[in-house]
Amino acid sequence: MSAAFHDWMKTIQAGMEQDMGAYLPGAGAVPSKLHEAMRYALLGGGKRVRPLLVYAAGALFGADAAVLSRAAAAVEMIHAYSLVHDDMPCMDDDELRRGKPTVHVAYDEATALLVGDALQSQAFLVLADAAAADGAALPPGRLAAMLRLLAHASGSAGMCGGQAIDLDSVGLSLTLEQLERMHQLKTGALLRASVVLGALAGKDLDQTELTALNDYARAIGLAFQVVDDVLDATADSATLGKTAGKDAADNKPTYVSILGLEPSRELAETLRRDAHAALAPFGEKALRLRELADLIVQRKA
Ligand code: IPE
Ligand code: IPE
Ligand code: MG
Ligand code: MG
Ligand code: MG
Repeated sequence: MSAAFHDWMKTIQAGMEQDMGAYLPGAGAVPSKLHEAMRYALLGGGKRVRPLLVYAAGALFGADAAVLSRAAAAVEMIHAYSLVHDDMPCMDDDELRRGKPTVHVAYDEATALLVGDALQSQAFLVLADAAAADGAALPPGRLAAMLRLLAHASGSAGMCGGQAIDLDSVGLSLTLEQLERMHQLKTGALLRASVVLGALAGKDLDQTELTALNDYARAIGLAFQVVDDVLDATADSATLGKTAGKDAADNKPTYVSILGLEPSRELAETLRRDAHAALAPFGEKALRLRELADLIVQRKA
């Protein structure tokens, strides 16, 4: 990782922390337990990979910073909501997330359910207000496309659909095609949305640009979950900030269980190269997107 990339990443992560804090109701606002728990779930942890993708894609087309901030916050809110629900006893039943007790443990199950619901609504509220953000000129048609994209990626044709397949697949031996589809939905969909949201914050996309971004997003979206599966099997809980070894314990089909550890690592590396290749049409402007593909595949947590 270059020093310049490291500094860029830290700047965006710090900016997101501040902006997302401002986009949420204060912890003291009634109902205060819910608002406090929303802040607990969203702030003070996480790698912020989705916001980084939004900003990196925005850099391709000189997107407005205020619009990028709202798009990045919106997708991170959807992601945080998905984690809160993913950890609940009715799903993966996890007690550790981002190095802290999960929301249903720190608060209670009903609060965790509501935190997810409310973060999801807040995401669309924050993005909808992008038209008026700091005088940014975002045409209404482009904003509607962004809202639609995020809704599609979050719902039953995206993240929620993937989570449903994941839960239905416990104990099953999926084919590679079925496994890839599950991963593309549960994880890939929001990562793709991040990339396209960032680009759309800058301009309407032509077919060549959209195809290149889709190819990139497909590669990093799958790679991200392949690496998540590898880390679940190889890293420890302290490093991950979540319980390691959970997939095998829960009998989940993963790339590690179906392909094996080394072939999974090799697949992630192939996908990293595919991601780089897809960015060729953008030249030097795609530097940060290339570096993010490297980060996603080479990360240790
Ligand atoms: C974890 O996502 C859940 C998956 C989609 C694999 P991240 O690894 O991005 O989690 P945070 O946001 O850094 O905590
Ligand atoms: C979760 O996948 C994906 C979503 C939350 C949509 P995992 O269940 O593998 O995520 P972790 O490993 O708990 O972070
Ligand atoms: Mg899960
Ligand atoms: Mg989980
Ligand atoms: Mg996992």
